[in-house]
Amino acid sequence: ALFCPGSGWSTAGERPGGRLGRLHGVVPSPDAEHVLSPRLQAVASLVPRDCRAIADIGADHALLCMDLVASKRPGLRAVAIDRNRAPLEAGRKAALQHLAPGMVKQLDFRLGDGLSPLSEGEVDTVCVAGMGVSSILRVLGAGGEPGRLGTLGVDTLVLQPVSPRPAALHGLRKWLDSQGYTIDAEVISRVKGLFYITTRARRSAEKSFIAPGEGDFFLPQLIRRRALAGAGSEGDDEAENYLRYVSHHLRWEKGNACRKRGASCPANKRDNTGQADFLVQLLEEEVIALRAGGVTGGEAGGDEDEDEEDLVSSLP
Ligand SMILES: C[S@@+](CC[C@H](N)C(=O)[O-])C[C@H]1O[C@@H](n2cnc3c(N)ncnc32)[C@H](O)[C@@H]1O
Repeated sequence: ALFCPGSGWSTAGERPGGRLGRLHGVVPSPDAEHVLSPRLQAVASLVPRDCRAIADIGADHALLCMDLVASKRPGLRAVAIDRNRAPLEAGRKAALQHLAPGMVKQLDFRLGDGLSPLSEGEVDTVCVAGMGVSSILRVLGAGGEPGRLGTLGVDTLVLQPVSPRPAALHGLRKWLDSQGYTIDAEVISRVKGLFYITTRARRSAEKSFIAPGEGDFFLPQLIRRRALAGAGSEGDDEAENYLRYVSHHLRWEKGNACRKRGASCPANKRDNTGQADFLVQLLEEEVIALRAGGVTGGEAGGDEDEDEEDLVSSLP
């Protein structure tokens, strides 16, 4: 465990988005007007009530872990893992400043890569947020020692990639399925013009959706079911956001299909025009279904420029 008093993180404005503040059990501070950012609130909302111990990998300043031990679950243990020392040290200092002493004891700060600082049976839940899908998969051990998550005894994953492009999420969902995890909760959020799909997958969950065809892994099935079932009800933010998300990615995939056919597209990337065309059709059909079901809006899409590095460096 890393204990490093004396780092400089404690003043407002050093970090975009939310910052530790007004949490239950937190020692009041003069500038405690911030709460966990809406993006990270979506992650916190999917951490199961019965979670006993959680690891947040790529925890940065450990805001999520602090929020979880401070505001929600008495007795929960949380391990904040990051491969960079400085943000962890800053998080440790913030915890000492702002959390009640008993809560600080529930937190552990570990320097390391991905799952490697964890030992077997230590945590039942792992969160990864604020990275692209390929980084999340690397962190979770895809391509490494097979079944590492299972060996560790991780029952639940809560994942929130930046850039929730259907093709990327398809890869993530397929991998989860191959590892025996089933998606049992999904939320969509739109924060500062950017879409986030936060996914909870559980090893022991009942099958929540069956995947008879490839198409089923491209779309967030639980969100779409709710959107189609509740469509038409006024002020249904989730259904509207979902339509916006689909419309946005439809525009993006149409552009992508054109780019792949353009003369400037390298030959090795043209092979994939089939997937781009498939996605255009899938998303077009989804827009039609949602509109037919009474979902309105959807013209204004996300503002994301789809460059993953930009998205990671400017997380809301
Ligand atoms: C953009 S921040 C996201 C922080 C936080 N999870 C959030 O969503 O706001 C990504 C963090 O992940 C850490 N990170 C990236 N790859 C990692 C890995 N393989 N193991 C541990 N930490 C990693 C980085 O050092 C960085 O602090």
